[in-house]
Amino acid sequence: MLTIEQVSWAEHWRELTALRRRVFVEEQKVPVELELDEHDFSARHWRAILNNEVVGTVRLLEDGHVGRMAVAADHRGQGIGRELLTAVIQDAIALGLESLHLAAQEHAIEFYERAGFKAFGDLFWDAGILHRNMSRVLRPEERLGDDGAKFAVHSLADSALSLVSRSRRQVWLLCRCLEPEVYAQPRMIELLSNLARKHRDSEVRLLISDDRPLRESRHPLVELSQRLSSSIHIRVLRKEQLAELNEYYLLGDGEAIIVQHMHRGGSAWGSFSLRPTVRTYREQFDRLWQHARPSPWLRRLP
Ligand code: COA
Repeated sequence: MLTIEQVSWAEHWRELTALRRRVFVEEQKVPVELELDEHDFSARHWRAILNNEVVGTVRLLEDGHVGRMAVAADHRGQGIGRELLTAVIQDAIALGLESLHLAAQEHAIEFYERAGFKAFGDLFWDAGILHRNMSRVLRPEERLGDDGAKFAVHSLADSALSLVSRSRRQVWLLCRCLEPEVYAQPRMIELLSNLARKHRDSEVRLLISDDRPLRESRHPLVELSQRLSSSIHIRVLRKEQLAELNEYYLLGDGEAIIVQHMHRGGSAWGSFSLRPTVRTYREQFDRLWQHARPSPWLRRLP
């Protein structure tokens, strides 16, 4: 009979790593140093037992990241993976998590889709294997982010619009080059234009790491900043500042945030009410802003 148990890492790490090594290192040729990481100590772990043998495992990190899903090769296709995922989902709901997210190996996308996960973003390489980000919402979409919890961002363009439409005074953006699919959308321009005109102390700060793409084409947000130059400002990061960063982010009114990882396929999370975290990001942003340079090219009216 199959049983699924949640187990402590301290007591069961040997059997869990033995199975993971067989599946990931021996079968899939993932370098052993990538299979092990520091998250195992704080993660929640499950094992699947069949006839006294450990035949499956999975883990859940505090932030809702599901990983290390492995079923022994000779026991696949019998519903063991599904049972493990069900246990994780039920636990995550009980914990009050808004959503779950993971990086699925390409071949396993369908497996996760059967359990309600949706793929987003492009395929990317990790440990020599093609992956795609996926997430599964556990609570109704309309409540996401309002109660201080984080949610996985499915569409950066839509979530960025939501954040900006909620902001009353201040929008600070750190990004590569005002990616047009997000920051040149007509609705985005309209929202930022309204915000900039609404109050005397409204402020939109656009901090970009690369202004070259913006020299080559007309970007509506650059044009808006030239028209509303007292409230919409653009600066460019210096090369040495970029070296210390691994995330881009969008901040609204000191409480809303969307963070996008520069690597890991650009996975992103957000929350519309997370003041202490936003404060930390604002401090970093402000430091970067003070040392960034104005772009003479972007300030000039065409
Ligand atoms: N492609 C398409 N569908 C798949 C699939 C695959 N590779 N693997 C499972 N499914 C489907 C099953 O048909 C089943 O569908 P159903 O609900 O309609 O019956 C459902 O997903 C559940 O399958 P299940 O038998 O519970 O899956 P499993 O126990 O074989 O476990 C993996 C699936 C991916 C965990 C297993 O193949 C594995 O360990 N692979 C190697 C390690 C790995 O790649 N882990 C994932 C890292 S992201």
